[in-house]
Amino acid sequence: VTHTKVQDNNVMRTPDEQMALEEMSCTLIRDLNEYGVCVLDSFVGEERGLKVLEEVKCMYKAGLFRDGQLVSTTKSKLDHKHIRSDKIMWVDGKEQGLYNIKYLMNQVDAVITLANRMRNNGKLGQYNIRERTKAMVAVYEGKGSHYVKHVDNPNKDGRCITCIYYLNVNWNVQESGGLLRIFPDGWVDRIADIEPIFDRITFFWSDRRNPHEVQPAHRTRYAITLWYFDAHEREAAVRKYKKDCENLLKAA
Ligand code: OGA
Ligand code: OGA
Ligand code: MN
Repeated sequence: VTHTKVQDNNVMRTPDEQMALEEMSCTLIRDLNEYGVCVLDSFVGEERGLKVLEEVKCMYKAGLFRDGQLVSTTKSKLDHKHIRSDKIMWVDGKEQGLYNIKYLMNQVDAVITLANRMRNNGKLGQYNIRERTKAMVAVYEGKGSHYVKHVDNPNKDGRCITCIYYLNVNWNVQESGGLLRIFPDGWVDRIADIEPIFDRITFFWSDRRNPHEVQPAHRTRYAITLWYFDAHEREAAVRKYKKDCENLLKAA
């Protein structure tokens, strides 16, 4: 998985903007510790959100999306489509013309970094977050496209928080489906259903605490996902990966 430094430091903000970020960080800390999931609405505002959507649609029309990958490569193509039928592309925000996606990424970085540094931040304080993946832009093209129940990080690859930003104007779940359903571990008989509505961002622990699925979407559904790494777990994962590679080469 590609990775990038968290980039919150080179952005100028007004005191009001800074305060809004701090408020969101407080909510994030509270909800992640209490529920393992946090949903924030009106994350960057309508005007900016629409510009992000324009950039995504532009890349989509340019034919830059590919089938979403599966971590396990043993699956046949048919199985693959059954598990996950979205189309994705990875961006780091530095590409020409992605000014608003870059802004979005900076805002998420800022909220995560602030929360990670705040006092009394509970489980979030057990992580040391310095890096994340690039942004995965995902398009579910309707026609029942979906992603079956899975865990993002079942085997300690380093990812600790999943953040998903939605771009779907006037999304109606009754008509169009596409719910994100989370089955939090430890909630007896309870689930979290999250509608993928415009300018909403959802955060959750990436590990086995949060199995989740994307229910079949009947209309084009856009989302941008970032995964944040815990430095310690990530270093261990990279070390193990290198060791496994060496052993494979020795055996060959
Ligand atoms: C995931 C994931 C993208 C990829 O869903 O957990 O990692 O290719 N997807 O890594
Ligand atoms: C994923 C995923 C959920 C969503 O890509 O791993 O679970 O709501 N996406 O798009
Ligand atoms: Mn997932």
